[in-house]
Amino acid sequence: MTDWWKTAVFYQVYPRSFADANGDGIGDLRGITEKLDYLQSLGIDAIWLSPHYPSPMADCGYDISDYCAVAQEYGSLDDFRVLLNDLHRRGMYLVLDLVLNHTSDRHPWFLESRSSKSNPKRDWYIWRPGKNGAPPNDWHSTFGGSAWQVDPQTGEYYYHFFFKEQPDLNWCNPEVKRAMWEVVRFWLDLGVDGFRLDAIGTIFEDPSWADHHLDFNLDDLYIENRKASSPEERQRVARRWDLLFAGQHDLPEMHSLMRDLRVLVDQYPGRVLIGETDEIAFYGNGRNELHLVFNFPLMRTDRITADHVLENQRQRLAALPAGAWPCNTLGNHDSPRMLSQFGDGVHDREIARLNLFILLTLQGTPVLYNGEEIGMRDFLINDPAAFRDPLSLRSLQLEQTLMGSSLEQAVQIAAVQGRDKCRTPMQWANQPNAGFCPPGVQPWLPVNPDYAEGVNVADQTADPESILAFYRRILAFRRSQPALFEGETARLGGGQDLFWNLRQSGEERLLAVSNISAHPVRFDYSGEILFSTHSRKPGICDSIELLPYEGVVIQTKGDRVP
Ligand code: GLC
Repeated sequence: MTDWWKTAVFYQVYPRSFADANGDGIGDLRGITEKLDYLQSLGIDAIWLSPHYPSPMADCGYDISDYCAVAQEYGSLDDFRVLLNDLHRRGMYLVLDLVLNHTSDRHPWFLESRSSKSNPKRDWYIWRPGKNGAPPNDWHSTFGGSAWQVDPQTGEYYYHFFFKEQPDLNWCNPEVKRAMWEVVRFWLDLGVDGFRLDAIGTIFEDPSWADHHLDFNLDDLYIENRKASSPEERQRVARRWDLLFAGQHDLPEMHSLMRDLRVLVDQYPGRVLIGETDEIAFYGNGRNELHLVFNFPLMRTDRITADHVLENQRQRLAALPAGAWPCNTLGNHDSPRMLSQFGDGVHDREIARLNLFILLTLQGTPVLYNGEEIGMRDFLINDPAAFRDPLSLRSLQLEQTLMGSSLEQAVQIAAVQGRDKCRTPMQWANQPNAGFCPPGVQPWLPVNPDYAEGVNVADQTADPESILAFYRRILAFRRSQPALFEGETARLGGGQDLFWNLRQSGEERLLAVSNISAHPVRFDYSGEILFSTHSRKPGICDSIELLPYEGVVIQTKGDRVP
């Protein structure tokens, strides 16, 4: 039987913003449990839950202070058990976010570690003396500034790839591994179905800790990125970022660690590991490291075009080791919302449908992001006091100091650069606070007012033409077609605004064809149309005029391809 995580559709729940059962303006586990009927009727199979652990929230939960508990504002371990059991009762799955690279600086391990040079946990983190009053080397934190923070208690510096509130664990210390594998067992014993592994590329560092001696820094890259006006210029910035961080990510030591974790996880049948990385090397030989690795290059583009999807699929599928299964996504809590990124302002509804059609007809496990099913968009907060993502605050400052922007301009840019924009509360109904929390309660992030214009679950449930209705229709269709949920991609092609891929499972062959353009395109091919993103009736065809942004699935006989 095909592994469940290959055929499943995943849905990322950002717990703080999903559903607020106790009415305090912050989402919680009970809220998620109450929405399981909704998620089941939507047609998803598995939830990836962003961190639900106790956290001082220096990085919205990705700074964990207790790995074996539930944040108080999200509920209790009992609430967690109820959620998990309720999911399992429905034949659904739960995958947790696991942050291995760093803990919170308030985690008891770090509190011990920083307390003295001789503390038994000193070596659980990365401590170095400074060099003549300066940090131990010239490395940066990816979130800005030096990667080293001096700690007054001992006068030494600790290393942090992310914020200073997120000290890196020292994975060269076997005790760290043992402690973290206990955390993994704790949740697997409770019955969770796997983990999304946060930022795994950053776990090891170049053991020489040598200065990079580059003549540019992260601020320079910020300026270059802001001035970049073409994808090529942005790629150049990305290449320079790679140079700057060469000693700090994707070190080869990762692979033996991932193999180790896989051995542990394989002791629990049917569990899955999904890496927050696009490095295909993390599949190992296809069976011995991670089960799934995100195909981020698919979504990291200004526009979804036929050429982009074709090129992406050609490269990606060819590079996979035998037995490895792809994993595709078009949005998450760190990136712009799909519609804001890829909509053209004219055909947004059609583009939303077609993007989902492409995602669900490519070979691989699709991962959706909560809210995209109702066409939620980025919401740009215009009051810096309402920013919650420290990256927004950082941009606010850099805009003014590096770019010379006025406060007003800086706020606008910071709202775009930060990640609050895609994390606003889920819009459940055309009611105050979009029905996320009671009227009069202030939600933790402002609600996008477009809930009053139909961007909400209740209105779209009642409307057969809504984006939500389309999500339900296509998810149900995919579930009925083994060639789509478990088939290989037998052939790929396209050009001139068309992208097609032939999916095959046993004798069953389905051709998924997308017109990724704003004009009609003729497509000569005979077969039986089973599905269209538009209102086209199913039936036999010899030639179709695909409407703007239309996708169709055609059942085909024999080996014929366009
Ligand atoms: C991952 C998370 C991101 C977080 C970072 C540090 O990239 O997705 O939200 O800020 O790791 O934990």
